[in-house]
Amino acid sequence: MLRINNLKKCYDKNIVLDGVDFHLKEGEIAAVMGPSGCGKSTFIRCINRLVEPDSGEIFFHDIPLHELQAEEMEKVRQKIGFVFQHFNLINRLSVKQNVALGLIKQGFTIEEAYEKALAVLKDVGLEKLADSSVDRLSGGEKQRVGIARALVIEPDLILLDEPTASLDPILVREVLDVLEEIAMKRKNTSMIIVTHEISFARKVADRIYFMDQGSFIESGEPELILNTPSSWIGKKYKNIINYNLI
Ligand SMILES: Nc1ncnc2c1ncn2[C@@H]1O[C@H](COP(=O)(O)OP(=O)(O)O)[C@@H](O)[C@H]1O
Ligand SMILES: [Mg+2]
Repeated sequence: MLRINNLKKCYDKNIVLDGVDFHLKEGEIAAVMGPSGCGKSTFIRCINRLVEPDSGEIFFHDIPLHELQAEEMEKVRQKIGFVFQHFNLINRLSVKQNVALGLIKQGFTIEEAYEKALAVLKDVGLEKLADSSVDRLSGGEKQRVGIARALVIEPDLILLDEPTASLDPILVREVLDVLEEIAMKRKNTSMIIVTHEISFARKVADRIYFMDQGSFIESGEPELILNTPSSWIGKKYKNIINYNLI
């Protein structure tokens, strides 16, 4: 469903994506892990061209995203949900309005959009807060609104860029629980999740990708890659797991 060939991105002399190749099957969940600054956000943002790659190919259901004009790309984005690290919600709108906005822009009536918004807010456990203003919510609740907004468009692909990284540790779990449930229930939805949460990635991902300096240096099934890593990053993550078991 997604095939990326030789994706490159530089900022001046800083090579951020150094010829990335990547494949994702229908319903597959990929976790991308790696040190800060290695290019994870740039990679995930290039997929739906929130960041413009310098070169390379991105095929989504065989549509060449790298060749699309802005308005064609806008249409494709209606099938790709994005969950941001810092939520990117509109504070002056209610929870329900934040979730429904994308549908209203797509041409749904307000009634239809609110109905769909309420259904996904139920899925993330926030139906009671539908009419609250988002600035009153906790970080975990805000991110669950972010997830509901990504789900409401019934995407084929959801991109999540460190969805729990701005949350304090107590709130991380409620968001991971929601994501685990979505991963279990929505078997046809493919996901790419940038995360540092190893146990979450191990449980949910079909494949883990380790990134370093703009390339994937190792990938594999979670159990295999975390038990017998060959890359230095894999070894670091394995050490963290062992440390947590002590
Ligand atoms: N808009 C930008 N302008 C200049 N440099 C950028 C920009 N965005 C990211 N970078 C640089 O690209 C590198 C990779 O960033 P990023 O993709 O955010 O990494 P990660 O998400 O893995 O922490 C970093 O060196 C960062 O400073
Ligand atoms: Mg990042």
